[in-house]
Formats: sequence, structure tokens, C-alpha cells
Amino acid sequence: MAACNLLVLHGPNLNMLGQREPALYGHQTLAEINQLLETRAAELEATVELFQSNSEGALIDKVQEACSRIDGILINPGAFTHYSYALRDALAAAGLPLIEVHLSNIFAREPFRRRSVIAPEASGLLCGLGADSYLLGLEALVNVIKKQRGKNYE
Ligand code: DQA
Repeated sequence: MAACNLLVLHGPNLNMLGQREPALYGHQTLAEINQLLETRAAELEATVELFQSNSEGALIDKVQEACSRIDGILINPGAFTHYSYALRDALAAAGLPLIEVHLSNIFAREPFRRRSVIAPEASGLLCGLGADSYLLGLEALVNVIKKQRGKNYE
């Protein structure tokens, strides 16, 4: 089976991990989480392209630019989760397997965080597990892609 080429997107303020509200988001930096993702991807025989932006437009541009050469997307949309219809539309247009992740449990926080406008486009959502949300999400994404490939071969 061909390798999975995955795009990992981190939304706004996630570049501040490690310093940003550690009681909520933990002490790991984004660089550390990215390192864990690269290691896990290699174990799963997948490649990962890692991208963070604080800008909605830059995330959308990345989805549009990458969608023809990747097999799936893992995204932590940060606060865009709760209101970015533009990012949701870009992900829908890409038409690729999608997993949404959050470090914190968005359902146990303020009411505005309990709704994701991205989630209806995703195969699944993992949250509340810190960096494990990303690592389990990566594994889930590879499984979704493999299942889809299996179906196409049936
Ligand atoms: C977050 C949750 C969002 O509500 C918040 O705006 C973030 C981080 C998380 O990973 O827990 O920036 O996506």
C-alpha cells in the first residue's frame, strides 16, 4: 500500500504552546508536539507536513495549495474551530479524510467552545488528551485513509 502523506495544521495561538495557559494546554511546546508527530508518522509509515498560522487566510491557502498532493488532514483549528465557516468550506472543498483535534476538552469549557463548525466535515474529533489528542488523531487519520483505499480496491 502506498505511503500516506499527511498535512498537520495548527491554528492561531498554538505557536505559543508551552507558555500559553499551561494549566489548560500543558507544558509541551509546538516544536515538541511536532517532533512527536514526526516520530509517530514514521512508525506508521506516513509522512507529515507541519504548518502553523495565526491567520485564517494562510491556513485556507495551505489547504488549497496542498490538497492535490496529500491524502488526509489532521487539524487543530484553535479558536477558528468555533466560527470559521471559511476554513470549514476550504476543508470541505479539499474532500480529504479529516480528523479534528484539541488539547483541551472543548466540551467541558465555556459554552462558545462547545460548538465546532469544522467537526461536521471531519471523520472524527479527539479532544481533552493533550498531545495524545494529536498522536491518536494521527493514527485515526491513517486508519481512515487505509479503510478508504481498501474500499476503492473492493
Ligand atoms: C484549542 C481549543 C480552542 O477553543 C482554543 O481556542 C485553542 C486551543 C485546544 O487545542 O484545546 O486555541 O483548539
